[in-house]
Amino acid sequence: ETGEAKAPLTVLIAAPRGFCAGVDRAIEIVERAIDRFGAPVYVRHEIVHNRFVVESLKAKGAVFVDELDQVPEGVPVVFSAHGVPKSVPAEAKRREMTYLDATCPLVSKVHRQAERQLEANRHIIFIGHRGHPEAVGTYGQVPEGSMTVIETVEEVESLDFPAEAPLAFLTQTTLSVDDTAQVVAALKAKYPHIVGPKAEDICYATSNRQAAVKEIAGKCELVLVIGAPNSSNSVRLVEVAERCGTKARLIQRAGEIDPSWLDGVSSLGLTAGASAPEPLVLEVIERLREWRELAVNEVVTAHEQIVFKLPRQLID
Ligand code: F3S
Repeated sequence: ETGEAKAPLTVLIAAPRGFCAGVDRAIEIVERAIDRFGAPVYVRHEIVHNRFVVESLKAKGAVFVDELDQVPEGVPVVFSAHGVPKSVPAEAKRREMTYLDATCPLVSKVHRQAERQLEANRHIIFIGHRGHPEAVGTYGQVPEGSMTVIETVEEVESLDFPAEAPLAFLTQTTLSVDDTAQVVAALKAKYPHIVGPKAEDICYATSNRQAAVKEIAGKCELVLVIGAPNSSNSVRLVEVAERCGTKARLIQRAGEIDPSWLDGVSSLGLTAGASAPEPLVLEVIERLREWRELAVNEVVTAHEQIVFKLPRQLID
């Protein structure tokens, strides 16, 4: 022990945080598929964007690959929670593979809206992050050329569709609620006839986690967000905290916390993205306890009760 005792650290834990119903379901699909078909079960893409989850499923017999052609004949394959372009199940059918679709039902809902807008002959503006698997999957629901992906208000300004063009917009489920409202407002101002969902397609879990982190960010000097750098909803949580004027850091595991981050901090906020499991939150608390006496408070801004059904192939 060195020096004088430090002041206790107040930890405000956001609730809701961590796993959403879509992530729960995706993980359960992989686990049940292993039980039912035996290992190995292949998974196309990280089932959810979390290394801890991926490693624990690997230990149970899951094998992660980037593309279907890496899946050997006769082995079942699961599609990740982010959704897949239509070409992927089509190819799986052609190869007569056993496949299970772990696409979150809230992402599938956006896919169906894309089909409907296509049938109505509207060009689709998709607000999302280029290259993110969810955007790739949604883009792949419609033929090439029928969807334009945009990310920002500036990109709305550079769209050159005629004012009367039949347009519809859709959004990724894990965007920033505040930024998206601005992009949608800019779209509606430029194209008053554009049609879209009543509320944007940002999912309940994304909005609840952003509202929860907003609630705690104003009360602390530092916010830690547990999540992966490729997890869209986790990165958004960092941004939301920063917009409240609070320093925020994205960490994957407790081991990444540098004790010097706590210098001068008397209140710390803690949350986790929708793909980050609760044991990682507990691990962070244990780590903090090694350095400071803690006063831990959970700040609850919503209660979530949503549970999604498993695919029929895995029930009974
Ligand atoms: Fe689904 Fe939203 Fe989770 S779209 S996978 S419930 S973050």
